[in-house]
Amino acid sequence: MAKRSNTASRRARACQALMDKVHAITATEGINPSTLHAIKLRLVALANRADLFPLDDFAMPVAEGRTHPLLVEDNDGHGLYLTISLPGKEAAAHDHGIWCANAVISGRERHDFYRRVDDGRQAGRAEVVKVGEVMVAPGSGMVMADHDIHATEVVSDHPAIGLALYGYALTRFPSVAWFHPDLMSVRATASRRHAGVAR
Ligand SMILES: [Fe+2]
Repeated sequence: MAKRSNTASRRARACQALMDKVHAITATEGINPSTLHAIKLRLVALANRADLFPLDDFAMPVAEGRTHPLLVEDNDGHGLYLTISLPGKEAAAHDHGIWCANAVISGRERHDFYRRVDDGRQAGRAEVVKVGEVMVAPGSGMVMADHDIHATEVVSDHPAIGLALYGYALTRFPSVAWFHPDLMSVRATASRRHAGVAR
């Protein structure tokens, strides 16, 4: 028990140190490709400390995936989560509307990246084309700008366990646009940007 609480407090300190570093990185330059890259490297370094994230501390998903908050900032700040995704879990192409970084503790997840090429004038219609892919595995990560589009699939035969850092907490997320590349359609979830929280 003492060991567990010791791990939890070390983990909390490490997560806070990461968040402090993220704010230091963005304080002067904001979010741009180079600061996002620096954030990704910091997140990968934290994920590499697997001893801070023992599976006993995090319940497994019943199906597909589960997200455990690690450090969620007040006042519309960032959200850092531990994510557990079961083998084969897929997410269709989507745009979060906010930047995010991922790093893997164990397992492997493929990210396919898309670019929207239509003019967006027709409601419900969208044309996206695949522009790249990244295999995220232990020791590596990926980062996306506010309106980048990705689709994901867990390709390891054991769960993909990772860290996800979002510019906004999941409870304060913008509308997420979900694309269907073959049907050339798009649908959007409701924004949570105006959900009631302490200001
Ligand atoms: Fe996503």
